Amino acid sequence: MKAWRVHAFGPPDSMAFEDVADPPLDSGEVRIAVAACAVNFPDAMLVAGTFQITPALPFTPGFVVAGVVAESRDPAVPVGTRVASTLNGYSGGYSTHSVTAGSRCATLSDHTPATDAAALGLTYQTCWIGLHRRARLQPGEWLLVHAGAGGIGSAAIQLGAAAGARVIATAGGRDKVELCRTLGAEVAIDYTTADFAGQVNEITAGHGADVILDSVGGDVLHRSTKCVAFEGRILVVGFSSGQPFPLRANHMLVKNYTVAGLYWGTYISARPDALVSAQQEIDSLYQDKRIAPVVSDCRPLTDAPAAMKSVSSRATVGRVLLIP
Ligand SMILES: NC(=O)c1ccc[n+]([C@@H]2O[C@H](COP(=O)([O-])OP(=O)(O)OC[C@H]3O[C@@H](n4cnc5c(N)ncnc54)[C@H](OP(=O)(O)O)[C@@H]3O)[C@@H](O)[C@H]2O)c1
Repeated sequence: MKAWRVHAFGPPDSMAFEDVADPPLDSGEVRIAVAACAVNFPDAMLVAGTFQITPALPFTPGFVVAGVVAESRDPAVPVGTRVASTLNGYSGGYSTHSVTAGSRCATLSDHTPATDAAALGLTYQTCWIGLHRRARLQPGEWLLVHAGAGGIGSAAIQLGAAAGARVIATAGGRDKVELCRTLGAEVAIDYTTADFAGQVNEITAGHGADVILDSVGGDVLHRSTKCVAFEGRILVVGFSSGQPFPLRANHMLVKNYTVAGLYWGTYISARPDALVSAQQEIDSLYQDKRIAPVVSDCRPLTDAPAAMKSVSSRATVGRVLLIP
């Protein structure tokens, strides 16, 4: 098989596209002939060695793949089954073939393209767990989603609207703001030119946002504390700005809001059942056409370094995929 390999931490261009021997399957594992692999924001950080987990070298990046089972040691997932699987991020998505546990595979319906399946993985699971399990989002509540045109943001807008929330989104630039509206945001704000906190307070008649999903961090997270509702919940999902922000516990106390950290990766080992049930809910919403992932770019697998760089540089919307 062919795979992108990281032999030393560095920029995306330091990866090598190599012939790699097919690893043998353990009992319960399957080999997927990859049809689509998602490029996620943390991929470049994993390759650089700056992500919160540091994989052993060499490794192949990639968190989500969809394709066809080419070899199986799991009787429940026979050869020929169309599947999607989330991976741990460093064991082989950027590849023509990926090995994963059969129990981690979701069977795809005939109507689900591999591209949609790859785009629906990690980001939608993260947002579903965040909105429903952690923040207990209720119909009619105000949901504020930052960077609403991104992979996480676009998933959060759709899932929030599907849950009956009133969605306000922020994004950088007119085109991204417009995309947020088409995804289901009632109001979308260009937060690079306007004070979103003031606008959220005005739009909600002083109530504020009941749930805020933030994947940007830095000043965006700081200003979110200025427009969170009484008993509101702020979900800290990521730091695409590159700047974490030290939140003040006394401010949380006085304003009666909750801050919840959310990391999808821990659910793989701590609560895999929560991921399975989240995926079932996501599949059902997708089959009912109430959500549809934004796949903005499908590139050949050989373009992986360029694809990673464009995702890191704020230049993309929705999800970018690699096609072997
Ligand atoms: N906690 C978890 O389990 C989990 C799961 C998945 C992802 N994440 C994290 O969530 C964050 C977003 O992921 P994603 O998939 O949505 O990424 P993405 O599709 O690349 O979107 C990120 C967006 O963040 C905004 N942004 C603001 N400042 C930025 C900067 N300095 N550089 C780059 N982007 C900037 C940009 O939108 P605007 O131009 O509109 O500002 C950009 O489009 C990442 O930090 C990622 O690691 C966390």
